[in-house]
Formats: sequence, structure tokens, C-alpha cells
Amino acid sequence: MRTNTISSILLSCLTLLDAASIRRAAKGVATVDLSKTTGPAKFLASGWIYGFPDNGVEADTSIPTNYIADIKFGSSRAGGAQTPSRGWVNGGYNSYLPRFKSTLSNYRTTRKYNGDFILLVHDLWGADGSSIPRFPGDNGNWTETDAFLTQLAKDIKANNMLDGLVLDLWNEPDIDIFWAPNYPSPYRKNLPSTIISGPSAAHPPSTDSNTWQTWVSTIASKNAIPDIYSWHQIGDWSRQPDATIPDFNTLRSSQKLPERPIDINEYAAKEEQNPGNSVYYIAQLERYNLRGLRANWGSGSGLHDSLADLVFKKSGAGYRPNGEWQLYKYYAGMTGERVATKATADSRFDVFATKSADGLVKVIAGTRSVKGQYDIQVKGLTGSSVSVATYRFDWAGPAGEVGSPVALGSRTVNVSGGLVTISVDPASNATAYAYEISGAK
Ligand SMILES: *[C@@H]1O[C@H](CO)[C@@H](O)[C@H](O)[C@H]1NC(C)=O
Ligand SMILES: *[C@@H]1O[C@H](CO)[C@@H](O)[C@H](O)[C@H]1NC(C)=O
Ligand SMILES: *[C@@H]1O[C@H](CO)[C@@H](O)[C@H](O)[C@H]1NC(C)=O
Repeated sequence: MRTNTISSILLSCLTLLDAASIRRAAKGVATVDLSKTTGPAKFLASGWIYGFPDNGVEADTSIPTNYIADIKFGSSRAGGAQTPSRGWVNGGYNSYLPRFKSTLSNYRTTRKYNGDFILLVHDLWGADGSSIPRFPGDNGNWTETDAFLTQLAKDIKANNMLDGLVLDLWNEPDIDIFWAPNYPSPYRKNLPSTIISGPSAAHPPSTDSNTWQTWVSTIASKNAIPDIYSWHQIGDWSRQPDATIPDFNTLRSSQKLPERPIDINEYAAKEEQNPGNSVYYIAQLERYNLRGLRANWGSGSGLHDSLADLVFKKSGAGYRPNGEWQLYKYYAGMTGERVATKATADSRFDVFATKSADGLVKVIAGTRSVKGQYDIQVKGLTGSSVSVATYRFDWAGPAGEVGSPVALGSRTVNVSGGLVTISVDPASNATAYAYEISGAK
């Protein structure tokens, strides 16, 4: 008896210790502050580059509409890359035309879902990876570039492509070693009110980058400021918007450049495309009002399919959703007002949160590539307790079918000093979670 009592006391002490050490072990605390709203939910990260099957010059009808509409798709970016013809610079108009048709088909699919279309000019030119004989304006000769842009502007107008259109000047000029400050002028002449984005740099802004310093001073001195600033956020080796946005603001202010919308028109490396990392990117994008488009790591016809790896084709079963699609579907249901959030100090765990008119708070949480335990502190709560329902988003790879998020039950949590702490111990380095907080009383 005595031994039993002792061991049960020991056991319960151990359980307590265990709980305490688990809490102490949290690698950091992310916060959700319900007292500060940051504007209505806009599903800013629900876009992707390419991803729509080509259908001649018509909108795609092969991917069922619910896969696109249910996730509140908002933008795509394409220009006929990796199709059999090689673009303007590799054969003139006849090589450009099939790429333009692919672009038109993707544009029409995008507009069918009320999305904005970011047109990739460099892909129509033919600069999609393999070496090309010339870049626009090489040796200061703009004759061919003018002819190309004049043709493109004519085709855009003739096919009614002006609504929802953004012309993206050139992709990743910082790694293509291409620089052309005079480049926008033919657009400005032929498409005076069309929105232009740039520089779509591969490397996000950094105050100590010569490329970025040169870029801001060049656009300032030539008065060639894009309507939308753009760059890419790819890979966990690269700094996140929490660091790159303040740097961009410093660079911009140094040249007195105006504040303008920002597109992160490619985000996440292939190995970062899973629910946990996508929450991380969504949180970072939403925090700074950045419109985001998922990078697309498909090649050839794979590039023109699968909504940038949100769905896949299953033999005999058509298109099926993977775990990421389920996460974006949940994100599409995060309506109402966005609220202020903060990532953990180690920048490896982040949260995005909304509060709907009926008071329901939804929080999504995910790590950046790591598997580790973190806390979420939710501040600004009223009442003495709330109900917290937990959902898990599993990942079985891009071609692994995953159903609705797994409901892990709900519990009552006491509110102390207006806050509750939620501990998140992810099942894997790719798993994301959602918390629905309701019933403050
Ligand atoms: C400029 O390029 C055009 C077309 O590619 C070519 O016909 C012309 O000779 C070039 N001009 C010069 C000065 O090289
Ligand atoms: C995440 O986990 C998977 C599966 O265990 C592993 O293959 C991968 O290397 C991990 N990723 C990172 C960035 O640690
Ligand atoms: C929550 O508050 C109630 C009422 O004050 C109390 O009985 C209960 O023990 C508290 N729960 C926890 C987990 O602290």
C-alpha cells in the first residue's frame, strides 16, 4: 500500500514536472493581440504562379471550379514559359505567338475567378531558364525590344486583357544580370494606364545590397517607379518580411520613393510547400499587407497544372486536394478583421489571426521548417474563460490526398489578465494547427 501511495505520489509529481518542463521547453512565444485590428481579411496569400492548364486561348475547364473558388484565389502570374515554342528572342513572332496564346488562356482562367493577372514579359521574350541570345536593350540597341513590346501591347489590347492586368517587367533581374532602366517606356506609350510591377528580384531587399541600392537610386533618378514593388521570398536561408520590409522601407526612404503596394510574386521553396511553412509565409505576408503568389516548382506541362501543387491528378479520380489545399481552404474561411500578431523571437514560428463579427477568433500557427514546441499568447480577451477548439492540418506530400483538418476537440481555458496561452507541439515539421476561440464569459 505504502509503496503504491509513494509511487502514485511520485507519478503525479512526475506528471506535474512533465507538464511544467514541457511548458518551460517552449522555444518561444508568438502573440495575437485582439485589441489591435489591422484591416479586413483579404486572403492576400491565395495566389500562385502558373498552375492553370492551357486550353488553347480559352479559360481552363479541366480543374473543377471548387478547387479554385473555395480557397478564394486572388492572383496568378504567367507568360507561356516552358511551352514547346521558345519565345520572341528565339524565332520572332512565330515563336512568341504560342506563348502569347498560353498567356491568354491563363489570363482568361484567372479572370473567370476574378483574379488579377501578372503578365510575365520575360517569358514571352523567351528568358525562361535556358540561355538566350539577347536580353532587351543589349548594347544599347532597343529596336527589337520596341518591336516586341509594340506587338505585345497590340495583342493585349486586341484580346481585351486590360482588366485586372499587371505587367511584370522582368523576372529575377538580379540573377539574370539584366538591368534596363529605360525598359518601361514602350509600355507607358502604348498602355498608359496599365499597372507595372518590378523588380521581381530573386533576393529580397537588404540595406547592404548593392543591387537594391542601385535599383532604388536608378528608379528615383529616372523617375521610373513601378506601380507595385515586387520581389521574391524563397527558402529558409532567406530573411523573412519581418526583416526585409523594414530594410525596404529604409532603402525607399533614402531616395524619397513613394509608398506603394508590394507583391511577393513568388514565395516558398519547394521543400517549404507544406501546411506549417505556408502558415509561416501567410502570417508574414498578411502582417505587412503583401500580396503573395506561391512559387511553382513544376516543369514543362507540370508548370501549367495543379494550382502550384495544391491539387494533384489521381488516376481514375480526377483532381484531388492535398494537405496544403486544406490549409488554404481554412484560411479562406478566416473572415472579418485581421488582428495584430507577432512571430517568435527566433523567427521560426508564426501566427495569423482574424476575428469575425460574431466574435469568433481564428488563429493558424506553423513553424518554419523546424519541429519544435512553441507557445501562442492571445491577448485582449474579455471574460474569465474561453473555449478553444483545435484542428490539425496534416501533410502527405504534394500528391498525397488529405481530407478536412482533424478536429482535436475543444476545452475551456481560463483567462488571466486578459490572456490565454496555447502550447503548440507540432506532430511534424510540416504540420499546421488552427485554434478557434469563442464564448468569452
Ligand atoms: C539594332 O537591332 C536591329 C534589330 O535587331 C538591327 O537590325 C540593327 O542593325 C541594330 N542596330 C545597330 C546599330 O546595331
Ligand atoms: C522535415 O521532416 C522531414 C521528414 O521527417 C525531413 O525529411 C526533412 O528533412 C525535415 N526538414 C527540415 C528542414 O528539417
Ligand atoms: C479555472 O477557473 C475555475 C473557476 O475559478 C477554477 O475552478 C479552475 O480550477 C480553473 N482551471 C484551471 C485549469 O486553472
